Amino acid sequence: MAKEETMNTEVMTEETSLPQPRRSIAFIGSECYPFVKTGGLGDVMYALPKALAGLNCDVKVIIPRYHCIPWEYQEKMVYRGSFEMDLCADGKSYYVGIMEYVHDGVVYDFIDNDEFFTSGNPYLNLVDDIPKYCYFCKAALAALNYMDWIPDVIHCHDWQASLVPVMLRTQFAETAIRDAKTILTIHNLRFQGVYNISTIRYWTNLPDDVFNIDVFKTGYEDANMLKAGLAYADAITTVSETYAGEIQTPFYGDGLDAHIRHHSGKLRGIVNGIDVGQWDPKADTRLAAPYDITEVLEKKKQNKRALQEELGLEVDENKFVIGLISRLTNQKGLDLVNEILPGLIDGNTQVVVLGTGDAVYEASFRNFENWYKGSVCSCIMYDESRAHRIYAGSDALLVPSLFEPCGLTQLIAMRYGTVPIVRETGGLKDTVEPYNMFYQQGNGFTFDRYEAGLLYDAVNRAKTVYFTDRWHWDEMVQRNMAKDVSWEASAWKYRDLYLELRP
Ligand code: ADP
Ligand code: GLC
Repeated sequence: MAKEETMNTEVMTEETSLPQPRRSIAFIGSECYPFVKTGGLGDVMYALPKALAGLNCDVKVIIPRYHCIPWEYQEKMVYRGSFEMDLCADGKSYYVGIMEYVHDGVVYDFIDNDEFFTSGNPYLNLVDDIPKYCYFCKAALAALNYMDWIPDVIHCHDWQASLVPVMLRTQFAETAIRDAKTILTIHNLRFQGVYNISTIRYWTNLPDDVFNIDVFKTGYEDANMLKAGLAYADAITTVSETYAGEIQTPFYGDGLDAHIRHHSGKLRGIVNGIDVGQWDPKADTRLAAPYDITEVLEKKKQNKRALQEELGLEVDENKFVIGLISRLTNQKGLDLVNEILPGLIDGNTQVVVLGTGDAVYEASFRNFENWYKGSVCSCIMYDESRAHRIYAGSDALLVPSLFEPCGLTQLIAMRYGTVPIVRETGGLKDTVEPYNMFYQQGNGFTFDRYEAGLLYDAVNRAKTVYFTDRWHWDEMVQRNMAKDVSWEASAWKYRDLYLELRP
């Protein structure tokens, strides 16, 4: 009897401790881990809904059913229904199928259409991508109506989902979903979905009056899908406070700074977190030696040796190992890395690169590997498991980005007791406190202007502490592991925003 009473009390406590009231949110975006991921957007689309589900939110995630989604997930999807949907200006209609998969309190609905989603990679070229995401935005809204699941808030991500707010207030204005509020989150302003007006008009059949300078129009004859979404969304967020300020300036604004300044009243920055279950060095089965904060110093050496063996580097736990895990594009500061890399190889330092992207960077990192065999390893590939082992086996992780809306790799690095070396921009500035040798504070090494010499200096400062003041280096490693990089705080901020929009 006493036991039953205790159990009841526990249930009551759990129920009443859930934040009230309950809100329903539809996430719409182009990628989501573990189904399909090309970068941080995929991580966020997985981790934030999960965190929100724990904050009394009812969350549905809507993404395309790409053919590249692994079979282990495809086979678990359940057919939820299908319909024909009018799409184009000439009345052409398309099939919309809904496949459903439920995991960890989150419902995933995949929009199924073989004509649009057959490719291996979600993003191909704009000629294919523009029609694909015009279709996807409309299909997502139509699917919500079809399922009769009317959310309080529709949370859209990046340009691929940015037509949702526009379509909601025009083509769907008389339908069941009309009362939903919309948020558009900018994960990366570099990508905007720009194409000529006639093509976008054809693939959306949106009314002529939205193709004006305040909504779609950009330049003489182009339409900008992100710009239109920003105009129509009830709220705009981006993934760090610093980036929210930066994108209102010409340098970071990618041509949209004036438009964003105009809409700055509804813009706020909320920094990303990471899913600390997905990224947990103690429970990470991909590591040679999983570890927590009490064992990190010893186990990191083991992981480093295992990594060196795996990659054909000289096996020596005393080398300073620098990791770089990144899409290989000019966003990521790789020109600076190319400039300083030869200077870093001094017999005590090794560099491990994991990434794919622009041919020019793939080639330069391959060359470095050939020139510095045993000290540099360039893995030109996308490999989730190897990424885990590099986070664990490296001493430092390089993120010298030209711009970085948030950046997740520095957060993952800290969680794995690895010291980030970052440029002070966007989310890197908001999440990595510079090391202060007088107060023994901070999490990493930083530099401000986009100059190779400053990056070189930051790496050398890190090496100096590593080689001459290991005690304090090790303290920083432990400080990083103890830092809260989870979604906890930021998920609350999103929840508050949902409640502001839907009191
Ligand atoms: P972005 O979204 O701009 O690419 P982020 O730092 O936000 O940058 O997120 C990058 C995510 O992609 C991280 O989870 C990182 O581990 C992962 N990643 C990037 N490149 C690779 C790769 N080649 N192999 C495995 N994971 C990668
Ligand atoms: C983008 C940004 C990156 C951010 C990620 C997730 O891809 O480049 O900085 O962390 O989205 O929000």
